[in-house]
Amino acid sequence: MGHQMFTYNEKTSEAIFAYCRKRLAMDPVPLDYGSLDPSALPDLAGLINPEGSNPEEILNLFTERLAEAVVSADSPGFLAFIPNAPTKNSLLFDMVVACSGLNGTSWLESAGAVLAENQALEFLSHRAGLPKGSGGAFVSGGSMGNLSGLTVGRDVGRTRRPNVAPHELRFAISSDAHSSIGKALHVIGIEPLLVPTNNHRFTRENLEAALAGDPRPDTVIGVVATSGTTNAGIIDDLEGLGNYAREHELWFHVDGAYGGAAIMSKTYQSALSGIRHADSFVVDPHKWLFAPLDCAALIYRDPTTARKIIAQQASYLDVLHPDDEHYEWNPSDFAFHLSRRPRGLPFWYSLVTNGVTAYETAVQAAIDLAQATEKMINEMEHVEMVRPASLSIVLYRRKGWGEKEYLSWSQKLLREQIAFVTPSKWEGESVARFAFLHPDTSEDLVREILESMRD
Ligand SMILES: Cc1ncc(COP(=O)(O)O)c(C=O)c1O
Repeated sequence: MGHQMFTYNEKTSEAIFAYCRKRLAMDPVPLDYGSLDPSALPDLAGLINPEGSNPEEILNLFTERLAEAVVSADSPGFLAFIPNAPTKNSLLFDMVVACSGLNGTSWLESAGAVLAENQALEFLSHRAGLPKGSGGAFVSGGSMGNLSGLTVGRDVGRTRRPNVAPHELRFAISSDAHSSIGKALHVIGIEPLLVPTNNHRFTRENLEAALAGDPRPDTVIGVVATSGTTNAGIIDDLEGLGNYAREHELWFHVDGAYGGAAIMSKTYQSALSGIRHADSFVVDPHKWLFAPLDCAALIYRDPTTARKIIAQQASYLDVLHPDDEHYEWNPSDFAFHLSRRPRGLPFWYSLVTNGVTAYETAVQAAIDLAQATEKMINEMEHVEMVRPASLSIVLYRRKGWGEKEYLSWSQKLLREQIAFVTPSKWEGESVARFAFLHPDTSEDLVREILESMRD
């Protein structure tokens, strides 16, 4: 008889599997309430104690009291922020990864898992137009992908500009870049060159104008473009910026955490073709590629240079890095992480089992819904578009409303379990915003939401 914590418990296992089965079979999943009513949250005091508690009772506490206080990101009614709508197969396979306690740190430990993860990375890389040999790792999210890609870009830039003091080096970014870009630059000690844009889209002309008017253009070592801004879905001039970066030996980072997934859509094929110039590219399967949290793909054009910069070195890890000639792929070598679960596997399993066409149609559904929503809004007199829908984002206003009205309407929608829609800001004005992602979000639901703004 082994240690009690490591003994298989039939009763607990059955209870957990039964809940998982029930949850997976829900169609649609309930939206639930998040933090709407904090007084409904149970008191957890005393639960962590020397003797432990009954597993089935604690499972009940979770399913009956805690789970409802989490808005279901996989509900077709979750239209706030950037949702997360994992496929059933990706959720099921996440359970396999969890049950096996899989480690995905190194080739030595986890060759089977790494092989499959790399197949998924190669698929994305190929689809994005990056050359054969590109590669990287699945990381926890877009923020970590951006931080790691920019760290590598900084070190490459340092070697390219040995005569510029490290603290003077800069990356050119636009003010519509995701907040994680500014944070990442702060962490790695790089200042941004904030490039003014026309109508929020960062173009080659904007970059050239900013550099022409800058007293120290030689300090700029890289450019960050976004392939789908979070707030408005705007795709920067990837082709122009990418070409400029190539011509001037600048690191080109493309943040496609959200919108990079539109490489699965014919509509955006040409707008996204410039990703092929990227030195580092991030796209999050946990956003619009229907994988569970937390899973972002970080892909380098030259993974050898990347790992030489960012891999952790320690004597106990030397066995993973014998020498360049015998290098085997360690996902841990490509980002600021070491131990990791093979978080790409649920995405891989879903992609392999559902097939590419299912991904293409699911991504396209959200794009088409954004276009249909724009049409609906244009036909109603109480609402109007703030700017054209882009990718799967719709920014619009309810005429006459301010922040207070949007917030109370948002809470009412959630309380009535219609949808989770949170307001945003556009050029200082409070506005409404849909971020579509789930292919089952219907035009009927959108119409109901728009109609609810009449009163
Ligand atoms: C464009 C973009 N970049 C980065 C991020 C951050 O990604 P994560 O939340 O996975 O860290 C987001 C999140 O919405 C995003 O939209």
